[in-house]
Amino acid sequence: MKRIKVQRTIVAKMLKHNLMKMLVVGLIWESTIGHFSRGEKTEFESASVPECSSVDSSHYSVNGDDNLGYSKINRKKSSMDVWNLTSQKLLESFPLDPIGENYVRQVRDCIFSAVQPTPFKSAVKLVAVSKEVVEDLLDLDVSITDTKEFIQFVSGASVLPGSVPLTHRYGGHQFGVWAGQLGDGRAHLLGVYVNRHGTRWELQLKGSGKTPYSRDGDGRAVLRSSVREFLCSEALNYLGIPTSRAASLVVSNDVVKRDQFYNGDVKNEKGAIVLRVAKSWFRFGSLEILAQSGETELLRKLVVFVIKQHFPMINATSSNRYLDFFSQVVTDTSYLIAHWMSVGFAHGVCNTDNFSILSVTIDYGPFGFMDFYDPNFVPNTSDDEGRYKIGNQANVGRYNLDKLRKALNPLLDPKQQLLAEQILKGYPDLYQIKFMEFFKAKLGLFGHDNNDDYLIAYLLKLMEDTRADFTMTFRHLSEITQQQLEVNSISEEYWALQDLARHQKFSHWVNLYLLRLKRNTMDSDEARRIRMKSANPRYIFRNWMAESAIKKSEKNDFSEVHLLQKTLHHPFNKQREAEEAGYSSRPPPWARELRVSCSS
Ligand SMILES: *[C@@H]1O[C@H](CO)[C@@H](O)[C@H](O)[C@H]1NC(C)=O
Ligand SMILES: *[C@@H]1O[C@H](CO)[C@@H](O)[C@H](O)[C@H]1NC(C)=O
Ligand SMILES: *[C@@H]1O[C@H](CO)[C@@H](O)[C@H](O)[C@H]1NC(C)=O
Ligand SMILES: *[C@@H]1O[C@H](CO)[C@@H](O)[C@H](O)[C@H]1NC(C)=O
Repeated sequence: MKRIKVQRTIVAKMLKHNLMKMLVVGLIWESTIGHFSRGEKTEFESASVPECSSVDSSHYSVNGDDNLGYSKINRKKSSMDVWNLTSQKLLESFPLDPIGENYVRQVRDCIFSAVQPTPFKSAVKLVAVSKEVVEDLLDLDVSITDTKEFIQFVSGASVLPGSVPLTHRYGGHQFGVWAGQLGDGRAHLLGVYVNRHGTRWELQLKGSGKTPYSRDGDGRAVLRSSVREFLCSEALNYLGIPTSRAASLVVSNDVVKRDQFYNGDVKNEKGAIVLRVAKSWFRFGSLEILAQSGETELLRKLVVFVIKQHFPMINATSSNRYLDFFSQVVTDTSYLIAHWMSVGFAHGVCNTDNFSILSVTIDYGPFGFMDFYDPNFVPNTSDDEGRYKIGNQANVGRYNLDKLRKALNPLLDPKQQLLAEQILKGYPDLYQIKFMEFFKAKLGLFGHDNNDDYLIAYLLKLMEDTRADFTMTFRHLSEITQQQLEVNSISEEYWALQDLARHQKFSHWVNLYLLRLKRNTMDSDEARRIRMKSANPRYIFRNWMAESAIKKSEKNDFSEVHLLQKTLHHPFNKQREAEEAGYSSRPPPWARELRVSCSS
């Protein structure tokens, strides 16, 4: 409620005041330094950062626990027989593709096509499960994951009663161009599970076979990309970033042919399936395709459905509902991207079909966390133009939101269409406010100082010049004492800070930082370090770690997958095994030459 009100005020203010004056903020995110604007922000300072929506209690919850009255009762199910999925509501709400056969085609006038997953031909092995997803989100006792029924379920070999597997028709703008119909080319929505908190989770298999939307694809996913998705979606969750979750990862011996780097070197790989869980899998592209093909009534139906299911704070009968919805997505998307930036995460393929309507991270492909700080970091090595480089993500977010705005236009009257444009113009401010909040927390700063943006930009510039490690610079600043900083006593243990300290301006920046810390009221150095350690992870899912775990996995050794899973579950806590594995050490030299696999 609060956030919507804030957004409305912004719109109202924009209409009242000289618009241009409000928009001078410009493209602050385009490079690291020098573009941070000052002033005119105070009226927005009350915009609260939404709480992490990746945990059960977020604002997307359909019902509060208390409404259902059994929040304290442990209702974990230990047999699949007493556990239920349903596709009923989706089927009742939307027309289904009338064609039942599974062949690639253009589809119209529907949201879903019903398609069964294709089971693997060979034996399937369970590689990993997320106990938290299985128990806390899905109410299943984790012991169930040892059963044949569970493995069959998560590998698409058996479909539960009540479940009608669906594949979703969507479109999207890829790399700046309208791509027409895309859709779930290798994913099956098994159904919805409403858990004991009343939260609705949509379960989706990825890698489960061909669909009407497979285009040229074979409907499969390989082990390496599935390991990456499984580990990274869970890692982002424990960093507090809204994301889809991963319940399980299975691998088969079915051969899947992939030309990993699109260089003609086709290899036999193993097919794998991740069971992914999200509150909704609708994307910006879900709306775009309906607008593009003139299916306005279906578009309205879908948006109203989404509002009712996922935006309970919006009055679904109000004439401003579509605007309120857009406003919320603008806010949530700016927050998500600022959050990515705060941990150095680059999604890699920010096409409109990979942007969730609930602004959670989805579709993990050639993503990457940057090691040394570089705003030009591009995780997808085939993205030569660097369209989706890390420093361009906020821009691309606005581009995508603009496509969403256009998709909503058929539902808006001319006045509302103008208002939607104004709402989008508030995006740079929303983004910058959130970006600043995250980075102030990363530096342990309280309150407001006019020079905070400068202090942050200055540090990023030093990091860029010295190629200091992004994650560990902030972490080491969280661990080192003010006294050590003051006397410039930086031991080997703080290797990222040692790198940074090579910059001739380092001590100047340190002086500014120490002065600013003195302005924190009611603070102690110990309290600062504790606070900063909970804002700056010690472990992130670096590409070299993924590569190392994948190499072993391809030889049936999943030990490093499990170690990473365990480590990334507590990214802010120092852990012995993780230290021994070098997860907080300087990345190995070969990490710099790593290319992220593109064909997944
Ligand atoms: C499964 O769902 C159906 C209808 O949605 C319901 O009637 C039935 O009781 C459920 N079974 C269990 C075990 O929850
Ligand atoms: C929702 O909007 C409708 C139509 O404008 C209005 O009659 C109703 O009072 C609103 N409900 C709430 C809770 O504000
Ligand atoms: C992202 O979008 C593109 C199409 O726009 C699609 O091919 C791809 O599978 C999506 N996901 C990832 C992880 O790249
Ligand atoms: C990486 O970028 C290239 C070039 O723009 C693009 O064709 C390719 O689809 C991207 N990779 C993925 C997985 O989306």
